[in-house]
Amino acid sequence: MLILGIESSCDESSIALVENGKKIYANEVLSQIRDHAPYWGVVPELASRKHLENLNGVLESAFRKTSMCYSDVDAVGVVYQPGLIGSLLVGLTLAKTFAFQYDIPLVAVNHIEAHLYAPHIEHDIPFPNIGLVVSGGHTLLFDSVSYTQHSILGSTVDDAVGECFDKVARFLGLGYPGGPLIDHEAKKGDPNSFRFPKPRFKKPLSPYQWSYSGLKSSIVHHREKYLTPNAQNTKENLASSFQKSAIDALTEIALQACQDLKRNTLVVSGGVACNSYLRESLKEQNQPTSYFASPSLCTDNAAMVAGLAYWLFQEGKISNLYLDATPKIPIPELIK
Ligand code: KG4
Ligand code: ZN
Repeated sequence: MLILGIESSCDESSIALVENGKKIYANEVLSQIRDHAPYWGVVPELASRKHLENLNGVLESAFRKTSMCYSDVDAVGVVYQPGLIGSLLVGLTLAKTFAFQYDIPLVAVNHIEAHLYAPHIEHDIPFPNIGLVVSGGHTLLFDSVSYTQHSILGSTVDDAVGECFDKVARFLGLGYPGGPLIDHEAKKGDPNSFRFPKPRFKKPLSPYQWSYSGLKSSIVHHREKYLTPNAQNTKENLASSFQKSAIDALTEIALQACQDLKRNTLVVSGGVACNSYLRESLKEQNQPTSYFASPSLCTDNAAMVAGLAYWLFQEGKISNLYLDATPKIPIPELIK
């Protein structure tokens, strides 16, 4: 079964063609990073306008990569939540038009569940497992029993970890998006040169909660301390110590959940799953076994959307053309 996947929830316009949830024929991603870089972050109005300009071209380019034509598609999978409302609506409109034109089913996909699915495209991963989704918009921990059934164990109470990387990189004048740049600088620095506060929530509702706004503030508010040049105050040392603090909290909480729930498998996805220190730290552990997607499937892409849509379709989860976009999901209420 060939599924056309559409992703436009934030600043990547992406179209994929995926067969039976696993075989990727095309996964075209047009990033808007250069459009948003002058503003050091995603500008929602600009993002939706760029999707409008780009998405049709990305669709054509995905089909050009294959010998397939539009009528070969059996169903359309589209992200409808969460994300920037204007951006979601552009992808949703394309999805509905395609499904109506070719009279094929429309499958609504949650962007976060699609991230959770991404490592399953390349690996056969056992269930139940603990899933960690870490990106520019989300820091979430799940207990997953199947591709489509997950319960939320915990989340950040304020900033997402990727957002924190981006803001600290801005402070250090490194550029946007900050995650890959901090990752690069950190390799040249000493992770123990500064002791930053742990991004853990002081009064947690669940044992699996993070708080990244304090970590960011402690660096930005003590700027004189860090920006006074001396042998220790280098960008490399700051990046390395920050990265250690931000990432150690992710691994500590994820490993704690695996132990508490007796899970031997950890699945990590989202843009921050590209981080080399996170990957190395988890690979050093004997238990649990950690699974990551390739970097191009960690950041926003439509292959993970088309992949998950296949399993949702198998369960009969098909939408009608009245499907609407939802910008947010009420995460705190979902915590057990
Ligand atoms: O999943 P994604 O493409 O978009 C969202 O759904 O947010 O994630 C983008 C985020 C950005 O905050 C970016 O700085 C971060 O992922 N990121 C990284 C790395 N590569 C991307 N963070 C830390 N280390 C990296 N190597
Ligand atoms: Zn994402």
